[in-house]
Amino acid sequence: MGKRNYYDTIANIYDQTRWLTDSVAEEVADFIVDFVNASPETSFLEPGVGTGLNVLPLVRRGYAVTGIDVSQEMLDQFSQKFPQAPQNLSLIHGDASQLPFPDQSFDVVLTVHMVHTVSHWKIFLDEIDRVLKPGGFYLNAQWITPPARREFEQYFRAILAKYEQLQESKSVDKVIEDINVEEYFNHKGYQSTYVVAKKWAVSNTIEELLSCFKMRAYGLCWRVTDEIFEQAMKELEEFCDQHYESSETQLSSEAKFEIWAYTSS
Ligand SMILES: C[S@@+](CC[C@H](N)C(=O)[O-])C[C@H]1O[C@@H](n2cnc3c(N)ncnc32)[C@H](O)[C@@H]1O
Repeated sequence: MGKRNYYDTIANIYDQTRWLTDSVAEEVADFIVDFVNASPETSFLEPGVGTGLNVLPLVRRGYAVTGIDVSQEMLDQFSQKFPQAPQNLSLIHGDASQLPFPDQSFDVVLTVHMVHTVSHWKIFLDEIDRVLKPGGFYLNAQWITPPARREFEQYFRAILAKYEQLQESKSVDKVIEDINVEEYFNHKGYQSTYVVAKKWAVSNTIEELLSCFKMRAYGLCWRVTDEIFEQAMKELEEFCDQHYESSETQLSSEAKFEIWAYTSS
């Protein structure tokens, strides 16, 4: 666990550079509680819990929540959200591919932007299947980059691509394509459903988006050396000067909290 990952580096700016607000997270929690028909005894596990954006409302409501993450810095950001460690929250620094829990420990396992980050996704899903109680729910969720932000990001990707040509590593998008969670769980006899827990509007000025990129808040910003990154940022700023009326121009679009839900019988 000694190796620093990219999330260690961005932990202190993670929440401010994402778009899941506290109020949206509360509404998503309402949806989840209802969807899994939670009782006060329902237990939740979020592997790759990060700064706790998704499960914070569940902790506040008194549910037993366990979070595991390889990044101690991300976990620290989560812990700092409470004046005192809540008794119903357990945070573990560890690799989610080896969940340190007995079989059938949790009623609900939630992963958000997570499956593509583990080294061996099938081993990880085996672990989820193992720790879920019979009749439990696995909720594989994402609140992907809203379209307007995505389009802005594509401009930066295009600039970076010129510098990245020599690199042969798979992009994250490609890795996601190779993972078939649905097939895996259907094969194990789970029932699957797709639901949108919440849609909401996200608006940012060009200046705000540029500042997120300057902070290197996203994985793509770390694919190149510091020097190349600075050069690419200069190009992005020049592009923005030419492409948008002003740095106060707002880019708006709709975000979605999507869940692929799997239930065992
Ligand atoms: C994209 S972030 C998502 C964080 C949180 N789920 C959210 O939606 O805001 C991915 C998280 O998974 C963690 N992570 C990546 N690989 C992991 C692994 N093998 N075991 C545990 N955590 C891991 C990272 O440290 C990071 O906090």
